[in-house]
Amino acid sequence: MAAISRRVFLKAGGGVAASVAIGVPALTQAATSSAEGRVNLPYPMNAITKAEKLQVNTPVPFSYPDAASPCVLIKMGTPVPGGVGPERDIVAYSTLCTHMGCPVTYDPGPRLFKCPCHFSIFDPEHVGQMVSGQATENLPGIVLEYNPDDDSVSAVAVEGLIYGRQSNLL
Ligand code: FES
Repeated sequence: MAAISRRVFLKAGGGVAASVAIGVPALTQAATSSAEGRVNLPYPMNAITKAEKLQVNTPVPFSYPDAASPCVLIKMGTPVPGGVGPERDIVAYSTLCTHMGCPVTYDPGPRLFKCPCHFSIFDPEHVGQMVSGQATENLPGIVLEYNPDDDSVSAVAVEGLIYGRQSNLL
């Protein structure tokens, strides 16, 4: 078997790297155009409420993407990551704990979701981050869209897998 010199090996590796690099923009472009084509997404667009009706730190229950998936929407009162609306402070999450699916409840004092079953805690001001407890995943976030024309807040997708499902859309 012929030995491959280091120079030949590196040249070949460079070629592979170049091929991969050439492919990256094409993949990125495909993903972008797919993301822009919201009409092609399988998730429904469900209007939840008007932003003007929301009270700070007061949860609003709803279901998404179907009736078997309880969620809650909260106007946090200050801009938060992923927040929508005029103040960029409206967020929403699945209320099924990612540990074993118990319903979490929102505690407006510390502004956290708490699970009564094994005491996991999630932070709605930091993209549903798991703060402590048995859960290992963040709470799935409900992607919201705000329409300034009619002040509506709508659910348009889910980020993360809703507990107990193999796919968010049944
Ligand atoms: S079901 Fe929530 S911590 Fe176990």
